[in-house]
Amino acid sequence: MALLNILCYPDPRLHKVATPITVFDEKLRTLVADMLETMYEAQGVGLAATQVNVHQRLVVMDTSEERNQATVLINPEITWYSEERVKGEEGCLSVPGIYDGVERAVHVKVKAADEHGQVRELEAEGLMAVCVQHELDHLMGKVFVEYLSPLKRNRIKTKMLKAQKEDA
Ligand code: NI
Repeated sequence: MALLNILCYPDPRLHKVATPITVFDEKLRTLVADMLETMYEAQGVGLAATQVNVHQRLVVMDTSEERNQATVLINPEITWYSEERVKGEEGCLSVPGIYDGVERAVHVKVKAADEHGQVRELEAEGLMAVCVQHELDHLMGKVFVEYLSPLKRNRIKTKMLKAQKEDA
């Protein structure tokens, strides 16, 4: 297994739209294992393939407190959103140190394959519902800061670019 490099906002590659996965082979399962290792190492609750510069419809997540309930979503589609929505604080491994409020459906149903190609439908609520919506946005090239005001987004962009310059 290997740790993967996570792209940081405002990297333009975070805005690429991912394409569906058609081959469920060992190479895919290695990518899933590497993404899980990367997500756990970074102490994130979710990671989309887009964030590791792989532009395919694949997401890994674990919203359990014990960090032992990995969920793999391949070619995920949200089939139902609750009408009830709530604004909650979100962060993202691609926007380190930034947390802000985003409104999301409280409850969703998502249809997706696992790493063996087995399709199932999952119900998610609470943190997991937020995570599903946040990660599926990544696959469409959308980062959560795009829900914020242009003023806030520009401040975040400036802050990120400054931090990246200092790191370099
Ligand atoms: Ni994210």
